[in-house]
Amino acid sequence: MLKGKHILVGISGGIAAYKIPFLIRLFRKSGAEVKVCATANALQFVTVVTLETLSGNKVYTDVFAPHNEHSTEHISLYDWADLMIVAPATANSIGKMANGIADDALTTTFLAMRKPVLIAPAMNSNMLAHPAVTKNIATLKSWQHVTVLDTGEGFLACGTMGSGRMAEPEDILRAADKLLEAQTFTGKRILITAGPTREAIDPVRYISNHSSGKMAYAIASEFLKRGGEVTIVSGPVADELKQKAKGCRIADVTSAGQMFDAATTFAANSDIIVLCAAVADFTPAQYSDIKLKRHDEMTLPLRPTQDIAAAIGRNKTTKQLLVGFALETNNETENAQQKLKSKNLDMIVLNSLRDDGAGFGVDTNKITIISGEGEQHYPLKSKQEVACDIVDFVEHKLYERPTIPEV
Ligand code: PMT
Repeated sequence: MLKGKHILVGISGGIAAYKIPFLIRLFRKSGAEVKVCATANALQFVTVVTLETLSGNKVYTDVFAPHNEHSTEHISLYDWADLMIVAPATANSIGKMANGIADDALTTTFLAMRKPVLIAPAMNSNMLAHPAVTKNIATLKSWQHVTVLDTGEGFLACGTMGSGRMAEPEDILRAADKLLEAQTFTGKRILITAGPTREAIDPVRYISNHSSGKMAYAIASEFLKRGGEVTIVSGPVADELKQKAKGCRIADVTSAGQMFDAATTFAANSDIIVLCAAVADFTPAQYSDIKLKRHDEMTLPLRPTQDIAAAIGRNKTTKQLLVGFALETNNETENAQQKLKSKNLDMIVLNSLRDDGAGFGVDTNKITIISGEGEQHYPLKSKQEVACDIVDFVEHKLYERPTIPEV
């Protein structure tokens, strides 16, 4: 899996930096290409000459290092790399990465990175147990594209015994291999619509629905985990959902009209498009600038919104894969099949509000995937597991492998 892969090794200033030349050798032996960015402190422990000789590439240190041909060249590293490794990750570098501080080549690149990052912490046990460090590590772990390796127990450079030893180079190599093994969507751009839309009636009121965005964000994180470049066009959803989607580009919209504009624009540049949003089918024919007064009776004229799926379906190229959803309450299969055809979708994910634990708001879903090859039924699962099934199906479809029916 590592053969031909681009590995960016970020080194921060801890004694375990002396092991990084071995790590670079292991990667090179496995056929990977390696570039290094090191903090100024890291270079107190390991020399530029060693790192450049072993990696075969120059070492990036400062954002504006005078010896760099282009002062912002390091920024392109996040584009080049399939995987970034930060090892050893000191308490200081962990703190900066977790809090968005970017004051050197390593932390700047980390902040721009949208592909998987593997972090191998190394520090004194008291530092590791400090609530500030625990909190920062928890923050890093909460981001989908980041994996933090456990530290080992043993004799530490400060002369004490305890936890805080950096994972061994062989373990880091194995973890990197495993992460890259699952990267089946590397180089693929994925667009996902998420959540509800809100159609304003007046400055106070709107028409909307119960979508929480949970299903769409679970799909986004599954694609991201497998190496995809994910853009979410998101209706209003809880902030915590968005925070977990670190690594995805999020374009916030409110109304069906805004979702149409954003989704059709991004779609032109996407390989896979998943339309999971519950888009309003109708919007008030007229918006009132002032709050409408209460009446005994009220009629609200509505006009249909534009159909995003149908518009993208019309302009779809043979290289693009278009996935729709159908949320039904009756005649489920028939309605979903009709949507599959009329919107020119490659596959449609059907969920029915008649199934307990399926659809809006809840953390579970029960789906049937319908495509040209027929129907595949799945049992009730968590939305994360459902997302995994959907992405598996897309993967099989994309690479023309037969799908394996569930038993
Ligand atoms: O967000 P959650 O709480 O996790 O709930 C998940 C979900 C129930 C919202 C999700 O699983 C789901 O079913 N999403 C689609 C909901 C829906 O609007 O279905 P529909 O059958 O009305 O629409 C069919 C398809 O056309 C959908 O892909 C929809 O995104 C798309 N559409 C609809 C209207 C419109 N104007 N433009 C569209 O693109």
